[in-house]
Amino acid sequence: MKTNMKPLPYEWLLEVINISTLPTVIVDQEGLVYYLNKAYCDILSVNLDDAIGQPVQEIIENSRMHIVAKTGKEELEDIQPINGTVMIANRYPLIIKGELVGAVGTVMFPNPDDLRQYKNKVQQLIEELKHTRTNTIKDLNSNYTFQDLMGSSPVFQSVKQFAEKVSGSDSSVLLTGESGTGKELFAHAIHNSSLRDKYPFIPVNCASIPADLLESELFGYEDGAFTGAKKGGKKGLFEIANHGTVFLDEIGDMPFSMQSKLLRALQEREIKRVGGQNLVHVDVRIIAATNRDLEKMVEDGSFRQDLYYRLNVINIEVPPLRKRKEDIEFITNKLIKKLEGKFYRQGTSISSEVLEKFQQHSWPGNVRELENVLERTLNVLDSQTIQVEHLPLYIRDAGDVERRINKATRSERNSPDKSPIDMSPDSVQPLKETLASAEKEAIKHALSIADGNKLTAAKMLGVGKTSFYEKCKRHGIN
Ligand SMILES: Nc1ncnc2c1ncn2[C@@H]1O[C@H](COP(=O)(O)OP(=O)(O)O)[C@@H](O)[C@H]1O
Ligand SMILES: [Mg+2]
Repeated sequence: MKTNMKPLPYEWLLEVINISTLPTVIVDQEGLVYYLNKAYCDILSVNLDDAIGQPVQEIIENSRMHIVAKTGKEELEDIQPINGTVMIANRYPLIIKGELVGAVGTVMFPNPDDLRQYKNKVQQLIEELKHTRTNTIKDLNSNYTFQDLMGSSPVFQSVKQFAEKVSGSDSSVLLTGESGTGKELFAHAIHNSSLRDKYPFIPVNCASIPADLLESELFGYEDGAFTGAKKGGKKGLFEIANHGTVFLDEIGDMPFSMQSKLLRALQEREIKRVGGQNLVHVDVRIIAATNRDLEKMVEDGSFRQDLYYRLNVINIEVPPLRKRKEDIEFITNKLIKKLEGKFYRQGTSISSEVLEKFQQHSWPGNVRELENVLERTLNVLDSQTIQVEHLPLYIRDAGDVERRINKATRSERNSPDKSPIDMSPDSVQPLKETLASAEKEAIKHALSIADGNKLTAAKMLGVGKTSFYEKCKRHGIN
């Protein structure tokens, strides 16, 4: 570039760099300090003469100038801690006449006042985030009330009324019923209409916490209780829930050894942290839930009888959807309304044939299954009305494929299927295909009931994990 400018004298240039408020460093291609302006010298408390010629990373903490001098790639707005202070670094390659000769770097926020303001701002954001997060967790956790429990059939209404009546008591509640019937929702609603509603509702899924961690999760641990234990120990969920409710979900999956410890805690209203000596008094109400037959488990010795009695002071049995078919239409419409918000839709309805299919289907996954089916359908629906062809095959063929699945999978459905059998020759497929399609449907069905959880689905179908994954792959299910 040709200009009329006279070359700036060297001293002037240096002074310009010095006057500039930004701490600035110049390194050569080897990453040795070529120049450090006054502002930078002040921050680092070094003499310019001591710094010159030294490797930059020895003069400036966490410097990457020597790297930029090699790569020629600029690095902007990088966080760089110096002397325990967070700085924002900009690093530029120094290219003179097309040749990479070194690098220039500046850092920002060296002014303590700026930094303090910046820190306050970040701190404020962190507080806001914490606050939002706590509220979200509270929303997720415990804002359900009895009003949110959908169903107007007499059987559902009477269960709901009973639950409402006992919510004020401090006695343990055992919620039983198939998967997806709303046991967890009931637990929330009971807590929220109890006197404990200002205190925490703490859900614990006994099936998903590894057996050897369950005790420390529930009761906490003392400092040094085991390797990897947090310093100072940790409160358990019972202590966190103090004055509130602990919801022990899938209680039927609680390991036997843990059952005794839980029983003791319930009897004594005291817990002992893992690795600790002292007993801590806790005041919690227990709501437990399971879809397993605890009475049978007591009989065959896999569940402690005394614990069963402790938990089963109040038993609430949530009825499956197929035993309250009157509710299906109402719940479907409510769920559609809810899902419409999620998919930005309006005015979605179902055809009468779909309703009929829904009435015929036995809903082993109950409301959760209905919700999943509707969500999947709405997700791809390009018209206003849900028709039979939009439904998953196993519901479309409620009656036909259903029957095959029922035979192929362990299923304890007891509603007899009344739909007519297709007598035309076309309805007969080669056995291999029929079996394959039944297998595929059974897998999709199990997955939908298990909420997409492959391990659970495999367990329900009584096949191993590996074989389940293979089958999914073969049928193109992911
Ligand atoms: N009566 C109901 N009213 C509204 N939603 C329900 C009802 N029952 C179940 N659900 C919904 O079905 C899903 C499963 O409910 P959940 O309480 O987790 O069942 P469970 O614990 O019995 O397996 C949740 O998404 C829940 O919102
Ligand atoms: Mg549940």
